[in-house]
Amino acid sequence: MDKILVINGPNLNLLGEREPGVYGGEGIDVLTRNITERAEGLGLECEFFQSNHEGAIIDKLHEARTYCGGVILNAGAYTHYSYAIRDAISAIKIPVIEVHISNVDAREEFRANSVIAPVCRGSISGFGFGSYYLAVAALAEILGK
Ligand code: DQA
Repeated sequence: MDKILVINGPNLNLLGEREPGVYGGEGIDVLTRNITERAEGLGLECEFFQSNHEGAIIDKLHEARTYCGGVILNAGAYTHYSYAIRDAISAIKIPVIEVHISNVDAREEFRANSVIAPVCRGSISGFGFGSYYLAVAALAEILGK
């Protein structure tokens, strides 16, 4: 079974508790379960990684290139300024899909700029947890599932 990796960046461990009006009332455990179900339905095995640390996310992206068909990445606020994460995405050949729970274009001005978008295969933003489910479908399509 093809393996995909879902990386959640800073503060996403607090989903359900953190600004529920923006990110919803469900926790990362519910998100993980729902993604797993959808991925398995499409013939994809799913691994999850969450970190609040830029270097740990970079290390995981490097590792993913050795055993994953693709990555779904919610880089949280790093999206808007981490050239190091951008370079890590550029350095690996597997497709990386950028996701955001909220519509980053409809919020503060700084959120409308993604420094990782140009090096990702595509970006999905604004569909709540549905952004991840759409990304799973996109990866399944890319991987010929
Ligand atoms: C986010 C949007 C980012 O701007 C923010 O810093 C996050 C979450 C989202 O999923 O909507 O932490 O990536």
